Amino acid sequence: MTDIVLRPADDDAALTAIAALARRIWREHYPGIISHAQIDYMLTQGYALPVMRREIEDGVRYVLAEADGDPAGFAAHGPDAGDEDTLWLHKLYVAGEHRGRGLARRLLDDALAHARARGADRVRLRVNRHNRVAVEAYRRLGFRIESTDIKDIGGGFVMDDYLMGRAAAQGG
Ligand SMILES: CC(C)(COP(=O)(O)OP(=O)(O)OC[C@H]1O[C@@H](n2cnc3c(N)ncnc32)[C@H](O)[C@@H]1OP(=O)(O)O)[C@@H](O)C(=O)NCCC(=O)NCCS
Repeated sequence: MTDIVLRPADDDAALTAIAALARRIWREHYPGIISHAQIDYMLTQGYALPVMRREIEDGVRYVLAEADGDPAGFAAHGPDAGDEDTLWLHKLYVAGEHRGRGLARRLLDDALAHARARGADRVRLRVNRHNRVAVEAYRRLGFRIESTDIKDIGGGFVMDDYLMGRAAAQGG
């Protein structure tokens, strides 16, 4: 049986492993949802080591899931600057070969526990409106669509997203 371990990732080795996993997942999953140029742009904006280190200084927590010692998925979540009741789930990704076995649910449960520990009662996220697999998985994980939002991210690109949210309470 595969041994799954979640561990907080704040050192360069773990963050580098997360960035490599992100590049693999994004290049396999996002073609057809966003352009190749936007994939490259967003990987650079979201997964350069200095960017991730700055996020951690600002309160973001990265969590790496390892399967038998190999990187298998990750999450990143952090506070809302203006609303202490909300924790944002910024990133949730599982490698193709590890999907469908509850890994995203384990990473979410860890984020929910962290939200409750810091007094937040709501977890929110953005997901591309055309990312049907993820929208459906998030529904199954208890999230509901709250609104749509088109966000200019520079470089001539926009994010065309649903905002989804759920209670931080377990089962909520
Ligand atoms: C979305 C993603 C994180 C789900 O990871 P996962 O480890 O396979 O998810 P889990 O096995 O924990 O499943 C969680 C729930 O979602 C459901 N689910 C997972 N994949 C699904 C799919 N392709 N279609 C429908 N439901 C799905 C599961 O059935 C489960 O619900 P259940 O317990 O009620 O059965 C993973 O598919 C992924 O990384 N996708 C590509 C990247 C991505 O889009 N990430 C989200 C970015 S915002």
